[in-house]
Amino acid sequence: MKRLTRREVLSLGRDVGAGAAVSALLPLEGCFHRRHDDVPSTQVIAPGLSAIGDGSLKTHATNADILTGAALDVRALRTDDRYRRLVAEQCSIISPENAMKWTALRPSMGVFEFADADYFVNYGETNDLKIRGHCLVWHEQLPDWFNDSVYKGNAKQILIEHINTVVGRYAGRMHSWDVVNEAINPYDLRPDGLRKSPWLDMVGDDYIEIAFRAAREADPAALLTYNEYGIELDNYECDNKRAQVLLLLRRLKARNVPIDALGIQSHLPAESLTGQTPGYIGVAHFILQVRELGLQVFITEMDVSDAAIDGSQRDRNRAVAATYNDYLHVVLADKAVTAVLTWGISGKHTWITEGQPRLSGISQPLPFDSGYNALPAFYAIRDAYDGRLDSLAHPPDATVNPYAPFTPPTLTDAQKAERDAKEKALEQGRSAVPSTSKAASAPATVPATGEPAVPDAPK
Ligand code: XIL
Repeated sequence: MKRLTRREVLSLGRDVGAGAAVSALLPLEGCFHRRHDDVPSTQVIAPGLSAIGDGSLKTHATNADILTGAALDVRALRTDDRYRRLVAEQCSIISPENAMKWTALRPSMGVFEFADADYFVNYGETNDLKIRGHCLVWHEQLPDWFNDSVYKGNAKQILIEHINTVVGRYAGRMHSWDVVNEAINPYDLRPDGLRKSPWLDMVGDDYIEIAFRAAREADPAALLTYNEYGIELDNYECDNKRAQVLLLLRRLKARNVPIDALGIQSHLPAESLTGQTPGYIGVAHFILQVRELGLQVFITEMDVSDAAIDGSQRDRNRAVAATYNDYLHVVLADKAVTAVLTWGISGKHTWITEGQPRLSGISQPLPFDSGYNALPAFYAIRDAYDGRLDSLAHPPDATVNPYAPFTPPTLTDAQKAERDAKEKALEQGRSAVPSTSKAASAPATVPATGEPAVPDAPK
């Protein structure tokens, strides 16, 4: 299958408006062979266009050995036939955006309400989609009664009961569960990095471990995930938070807590159109470290906000597409990453504009627009899937691990002699190796101080 060049991906938004994007793209790629007339009517999402069947995200992701999908709005699933068909056509994995949160499942103390969650799971099974549960323990979207009725004396029991009941109900049917969501917050300034949340406060600092153990017991088959945001970019805040998340994961592994995966939410700002590409080097390196702990990595909630982009709709769509493409190329280069989900599937239902519509133009943070037409972001995602096998074969240099255990290099006799001469010279306070000599220009495997050689900087 032909891969688009980065230039082609960026050009996708050049001459087209939001909803018309796909038709203008038809001549670009040889694999766009599926036409309106040979598509079964149940699959016609955007008639005559190429984003379906062999051109769908699902087919391309399957070829790249990953799952692809989205978080879904259950109300839309219940009422919108085109939405249902779009999801079945494009996704291999789905997650409920809100339907499995405490606010949805727990109308009052001791009462569980499963109508939406059941509908969601049944829809997934009927359409042969894998299902991610989201989320069992979070400091947000707790019901009103929680504050009044949960206290130190009963919190642990209520937590375990919730997990037993919810995870137990769907046992054997789930791909994975977000067991704990967003538990790290460096700004709370605790040495362990934990967020000051009601769960920490009322259950204690072992609440994460308790939740994972309960989830494993209730469904031994589901992959248990720790899910986090704010760990994607190359800046101080993300770097600091990544370090604390890694320490948490290491503590959990050291205590044999049953955890299988890390979810990286990946709510990203659109890259600017200055032509400068952020590296995402930090997250690439972080994923490698997470893989070394034996964990899988899921991209769980990706969307790209164009809020900071001043420009035409076309420019914003291009910036969003470029961000999807750059980020996914980096993270998919690590074999630990096995699933990519966007937080929503179309501009019609996205939390980015929930209650705050953009003043000029329409925000398009997801692969499809509000009319369910494929956007440049769709092609950018698909292109990253297509590049995955190639990326795995040529992982980026960013995966050099400066924290790997140091293995002393084997020195040749000539290098040993040079090292000894240097050390002797240092002891005598002068250099024994003239800077012009051949030996001096040879690669210094071990610096004279005896410190390990610094690994090459990521390129
Ligand atoms: C969001 C939903 O998309 C909104 O509809 C809701 O009002 C608030 O929560 N990280 C998460 C998700 O883990 O659960 C959040 O979902 C988005 C941020």
